[in-house]
Amino acid sequence: MARKLAAGNWKMNGVTANLAEAAALAKEFVASSVDILLCPPATLITPMAQILKDSPIATGAQDCHSNESGAHTGDISAAQLADAGATYVITGHSERRADHSESDADVRSKTEAVCAAGLTAIVCVGETLGQREAGDALKVVHGQLLRSLPDEIDATKLVIAYEPVWAIGTGKVPTLAEIAEIHADMRATLTERFGDIAADLPLLYGGSVKPSNAADIFAVADVDGALVGGASLKAADFAGIISALEAS
Ligand code: 13P
Repeated sequence: MARKLAAGNWKMNGVTANLAEAAALAKEFVASSVDILLCPPATLITPMAQILKDSPIATGAQDCHSNESGAHTGDISAAQLADAGATYVITGHSERRADHSESDADVRSKTEAVCAAGLTAIVCVGETLGQREAGDALKVVHGQLLRSLPDEIDATKLVIAYEPVWAIGTGKVPTLAEIAEIHADMRATLTERFGDIAADLPLLYGGSVKPSNAADIFAVADVDGALVGGASLKAADFAGIISALEAS
């Protein structure tokens, strides 16, 4: 059985004052039956990890460099993120793939770096609107998944997030049948490649998840949680999503 995870991705949002949202969440969730994670911008990782240190909420990063150290101005390695207090790193988010031309091979290298640093990788995949309208969603996600993952995986240190690009920040969500179709195909693809341990990999859905639609999404087979953008910025909204996952 895959563990359940409610993960928040703050993207390029938040300054020190916004740490109050993390503190509020820690006050509300002193224990939980599900895993909870917040990924603030890199500037807030250390103070957030400090605030969350006695809570069940983990702190993560949104990207890393594939090398451990070296002449890469402005980049941050997985080892440095671990040192700063992160225990998870998101790799291959569609905004990184689009804004920084990250390929599946880049995502795979970064994912290997995250695992080598002893952190948990959340590897993102998902089709664009054009690809869905062309009937290629399954094929695109299948290919991204195979090319973005290392050959050797530790099921306790890997999470997959299906985030259709057209559903991110748009308020548009695929039908529950569409989510079910992709998630079933991802589970089958992972089982074919990695064997029975694929059953233990959390498969998250991401894209316009809100407290109002979370319960329906979490009831879909092979959906083990969510990667949440906008609705993770406010403790009250994210708490509603976490509670829906706990109840699922
Ligand atoms: P929204 O929840 O704002 O649609 O963002 C989803 C996302 O990209 C999380 O990584």
